[in-house]
Amino acid sequence: MIGRLNHVAIAVPDLEAATATYRDTLGAKVSAPVDLPDHGVTTVFVELPNTKIELLLPLGETSPIAKFLEKNPSGGMHHVCYEVDDIIAARDQLLEKGARILGDGEPKTGAHGKPVLFLHPKDFSGTLVELEQV
Ligand code: CO
Repeated sequence: MIGRLNHVAIAVPDLEAATATYRDTLGAKVSAPVDLPDHGVTTVFVELPNTKIELLLPLGETSPIAKFLEKNPSGGMHHVCYEVDDIIAARDQLLEKGARILGDGEPKTGAHGKPVLFLHPKDFSGTLVELEQV
């Protein structure tokens, strides 16, 4: 069912510092920061030859990554995103196998303007999993 790794998301307490690390220390191509108010994050996209890294900074009072950063003050890996061809078919197949979908179970528009869903970390080895229809 899952296809390519679309991105790995890393929550960071200082977006400028993290961007500089990826750009200057690691020599990667980085985007300008993008505010995604619907998702409560500001994102910098790091382009790698085979995938992307998304640096996430909390945006607004109710950011879903604020708690994560409280527990991980220096930042950390927040989620991985796998591509699927048909997000509704993927969701139904996962539900059938007993996996839990976060939220109301309906896909939302993700950071790349495509439908996404998040799966419960407890069902996937402690890792928050995002599915993105491509
Ligand atoms: Co993501």
